Amino acid sequence: MAELLTEICGTKLRNPTILAAGILGVTSATLERAANSGAGAVTTKSIGPIRREGHPNPVVVETPCGLLNAVGLSCPSPEESIEELKKTIKELDIPVIASFYAHSELEFGNLAERISGVKPHLLEANISCPNVENDFGMAIGTDAEASSRITAEIKSMTDIPLIVKLTPNVTDIREIARAVEDAGADAIAVINTYGPGMAINAETGRPVLSNMFGGLSGPAIKPIALRCVYELYDEVGIPLIGIGGIQTGKDMAEMLMAGASACGIGTAIMNRGVEVFSEICRELEEFMDEHGYSRVRDIVGLAHR
Ligand code: SIN
Repeated sequence: MAELLTEICGTKLRNPTILAAGILGVTSATLERAANSGAGAVTTKSIGPIRREGHPNPVVVETPCGLLNAVGLSCPSPEESIEELKKTIKELDIPVIASFYAHSELEFGNLAERISGVKPHLLEANISCPNVENDFGMAIGTDAEASSRITAEIKSMTDIPLIVKLTPNVTDIREIARAVEDAGADAIAVINTYGPGMAINAETGRPVLSNMFGGLSGPAIKPIALRCVYELYDEVGIPLIGIGGIQTGKDMAEMLMAGASACGIGTAIMNRGVEVFSEICRELEEFMDEHGYSRVRDIVGLAHR
């Protein structure tokens, strides 16, 4: 039977599936559900510097090949979020990744320091949300200089390994990846949602999402995620977490072959339920057994031969 162990920045994962940020990630109870369903690691919903309401409903709409969401980075107060994170770390026996966002260098650094106080295994800086005002989210992640400054500031405030989550909505993702690697990022997560896009209800003649536009996830963006991981595997020397459209063990094998060391799962939970983690692992194991691969590292980056 193939061995699914993998590693991100010295943190060992029992398998390469990671609950992606934003889904089931607000409370320790929901994060525990993902852990009990076989996830190799879990990521919290992004913790923000102040309580934030986000956009009014509807914030999610299903499209033929994926989901559009415009939640708007809603979050409880940082005190509440960090308390919940502390509980999660205590209760789970798998790595916990704390996702967070802020508006400025200083705010990112301060929040990273506060979150680090409860010792998550890894931090994930969200500089890539497409659904917020123009002074944060994707506005940072599309600017190499801002991405670099924020990464450097976070690194100066914490010893916990830092993943930076990038947006695909740039002309050249390699430029942004190089900037955050040079500034000290320990790993890169690619990709956040694509777009934004929109859905219109033909019956009402109105946009479906209250925010009108939302980020696209799911099978529609898998080819884009694969391309980004493939390009970055050649470009940077730090581990990659591949996110975007992974629904099956075979999808995951492809993402590992592109160069990811682990993969985020999000929209697939909507389609296959929370059991998707153990199901993807079983499918990946079967695929590896059938093809004579014994370890995850045997297929990481294989498509680059
Ligand atoms: C949202 O809250 O709108 C989605 C989060 C993200 O895209 O990072």
